[in-house]
Amino acid sequence: MALKACLFDLDGVIVDTAIYHFKAWRRLANELGFDFTEHQNEQLKGVSRMESLELILQWGGVTLSDEEKQQWAARKNEWYLAYVNQMTPQEVLPGVRDFLDSLRKAGIGIALGSASKNARLILERIDMLDAFDAIIDGTHTTKSKPDPEVFLLGAQALHQNPADCVVFEDAVAGIEAAHRGGMKAVGVGSPEVLTEADVVITAFTETSWTKLSDELLGWQ
Ligand code: BG6
Ligand code: MG
Repeated sequence: MALKACLFDLDGVIVDTAIYHFKAWRRLANELGFDFTEHQNEQLKGVSRMESLELILQWGGVTLSDEEKQQWAARKNEWYLAYVNQMTPQEVLPGVRDFLDSLRKAGIGIALGSASKNARLILERIDMLDAFDAIIDGTHTTKSKPDPEVFLLGAQALHQNPADCVVFEDAVAGIEAAHRGGMKAVGVGSPEVLTEADVVITAFTETSWTKLSDELLGWQ
């Protein structure tokens, strides 16, 4: 294998929107008469909007019709977008911009592979729309992670073989998606949680493309 492209998850890798999702889902749960914890929110990482709603309703023991589900999901998204609209470029996670710059200089393809239907809006808010050669998000996919669809579409958009791609992910389901797609996976977060990742980093400030690629190719 050669390392020719990097595919990045958005939420939790480029920017930390989990707190905004949490606040919006918690409001939804509270309005439906139950509470929702940060621990439960952890389990929604990488999970699509409608699948997240299904899980939350299950935890709260609430049954809704399909139409009601659509209405609550739309309400949650409005609350979430109120936070997103306040986002600034300062919210890009430490080291991310420098890391992407070094990939550009090394001639590595860069794509986004996110479950979010709000990905473009978020990238616009943090001034990073131009940082990616391709953007694949929840508006392009029909299957959620751990299905590899989002990353396979990313590799295709960059005209690269999956075996030459590296995925950066903070969710267990995202690491599995990368591997199912035949790609390497770098976990961004805790090594205790991301046990299946090929390499785990806690932040982009602690690594460099040279160091990571050596590790992934087994040279270190
Ligand atoms: C993922 C997040 O990136 O996107 C999930 O980790 C979220 O928490 C999913 O549910 C879908 O996001 P959106 O913006 O389409 O509701
Ligand atoms: Mg994520």
